[in-house]
Amino acid sequence: MSPIIYDNTVCKRYKILVNAFFYPHGIRDFVQKRIPIKNNDKILDAGCGYGILSKAILEKVKRERLTGVEQHAFDISADMLDAFRERCDDNVHLQQLDVRQLPYKDGVFDLIVTSAMLEYVPDIENALVSFRRCLKPGGKTYVFMSRKSALNDVLFLPFGKPRCYSFPKFKNLLIRAGFRDVNKHNFPPTSFWLNAWGIIVEAVR
Ligand SMILES: C[S@@+](CC[C@H](N)C(=O)[O-])C[C@H]1O[C@@H](n2cnc3c(N)ncnc32)[C@H](O)[C@@H]1O
Repeated sequence: MSPIIYDNTVCKRYKILVNAFFYPHGIRDFVQKRIPIKNNDKILDAGCGYGILSKAILEKVKRERLTGVEQHAFDISADMLDAFRERCDDNVHLQQLDVRQLPYKDGVFDLIVTSAMLEYVPDIENALVSFRRCLKPGGKTYVFMSRKSALNDVLFLPFGKPRCYSFPKFKNLLIRAGFRDVNKHNFPPTSFWLNAWGIIVEAVR
């Protein structure tokens, strides 16, 4: 699988697709209702793209008046990071990184979130092991991931060929990487159509 580069052109195409399906709305919904965040949490958005997840977290932190929350995000694509800077404020520590070579120390994050990125990583097992390494004991990851389906095969044609996983297969990968309490979630009823696109998986270190 040759990885697709998310340059400006692909980024524009991606924004059109996600907005057509109200994906940012669905992510905001799920983050608000289902992802617990506490004061002083340290959070990482892996493969952040133009910041859909980070923005939803910034909004939740503001809405719940949480204090001391530290947000980090990275992406391999410089163009996506430029788009991120346009969308999110300066309160996120942003870096250009490859998920396969994370420089973070062991056990630093309370929460690692990632959306529609692991599908593009050839050695997903290593990426999951790195997530686990960077999480504090008891820390959680939430993975938003495309389903394996004929619809997604068509939708993602212009974005390379993402490698999609069924929940049982992905759960196995997480368990092999050392995660426990692996659970599947749905998007809330207010964004129900996104359940046709993907699955949301929560796992604990
Ligand atoms: C489909 S986009 C999703 C972006 C964002 N997470 C979202 O939900 O809108 C996939 C993103 O993964 C990034 N990506 C792909 N391979 C990566 C890697 N090895 N390390 C870091 N980011 C990567 C791409 O640059 C792109 O921004």
